[in-house]
Amino acid sequence: MRVFYSLKSCVLCVGLVAGLSVPAVADGDDHDYDHDDMAAVFIHGAPSHPSDAWVLAAGGRIYDNWMEALDRDAPEGTHPAYPAGGKQSGETTWRCKECHGWDYLGVEGIYREGSHHTGIMGIRGASGGDEAGIAAALRAEPHGYTPQMISDDELARVAAFVARGQVDLSAYINLETRTVIPGDIDRGRAVFQTTCAACHGFDGRNLDWGDADSPAYVGTEAVAAPDEVMNKILNAHPGVEMINLRAFGADFAGDVLTYISTLPQD
Ligand code: HEC
Ligand code: HEC
Repeated sequence: MRVFYSLKSCVLCVGLVAGLSVPAVADGDDHDYDHDDMAAVFIHGAPSHPSDAWVLAAGGRIYDNWMEALDRDAPEGTHPAYPAGGKQSGETTWRCKECHGWDYLGVEGIYREGSHHTGIMGIRGASGGDEAGIAAALRAEPHGYTPQMISDDELARVAAFVARGQVDLSAYINLETRTVIPGDIDRGRAVFQTTCAACHGFDGRNLDWGDADSPAYVGTEAVAAPDEVMNKILNAHPGVEMINLRAFGADFAGDVLTYISTLPQD
């Protein structure tokens, strides 16, 4: 009887949820990831009593893409400090990662060459630095982030990330060859199957951000850009309802990276 009862209530519950129309929250100009009010608080808002892990992950998402993370419109044009010879333009040049890299090493890291090369320094030297000083530098030249773009509270989070949230990625990724340094694959499998798989599927192919010709799954991304994926695992992907492993630390993230780099790529 109990089984019947819970099945029945579950069916009712699904019907109820499906019958409700949840108002979508305005999502800048980009409606690819419309979500309901409750999700919006998790994605763009802040808890009343933020833990350090939450602050550092939130700061990491601002570093990745503050426009998506904070649901702000992109500024007009290319960032004035983006070098004329650079191959990128427009919105992406306002992202911290575009000038300083996923490995935080700027010109000394993976962006030493290729389509993201700028010649700009990394931010590793600012690790351990004064957070108020870092925040002030982000308001000033050459950065020029206004409070309309990133508020004071939000700027404090990205400054905390710069000062205390950077991970030495060379422990997990060979930065010369851009390949994964294998960690504990069984621990990575355990974490992936019990957390990430809820959305990405057991084989990592439930979500695809590529196109018909070249799909992009977690497996694809982990092999192509492991430095980027370490950021996503530790901080989550900005603008979507995704978990992150910041509270568990970089070693867990490295193990997950190891495992997902063995998942199907196409
Ligand atoms: C368009 C390119 C560009 C973008 C985007 C950019 N920066 Fe910078 N950043 C620079 C340049 C250029 C310098 C070097 C400034 C100098 O030489 O004084 C710098 C310096 C820094 C430094 C000082 C590093 C050190 O060791 O002294 C930090 C920290 C920093 N940026 C953080 C950020 C953060 C956080 C963001 C995003 C909110 C960001 N930057 C976005 C170009 C950029
Ligand atoms: C609650 C759902 C959810 C969970 C759990 C989740 N993700 Fe995601 N993840 C997403 C969504 C949604 C996207 C955006 C997909 C897209 O762009 O189409 C995403 C994107 C990504 C991306 C791609 C970012 C890019 O470059 O575009 C990676 C990598 C990723 N997730 C890895 C993970 C890993 C590893 C875990 C477990 C630690 C995880 N995710 C857990 C929902 C989730």
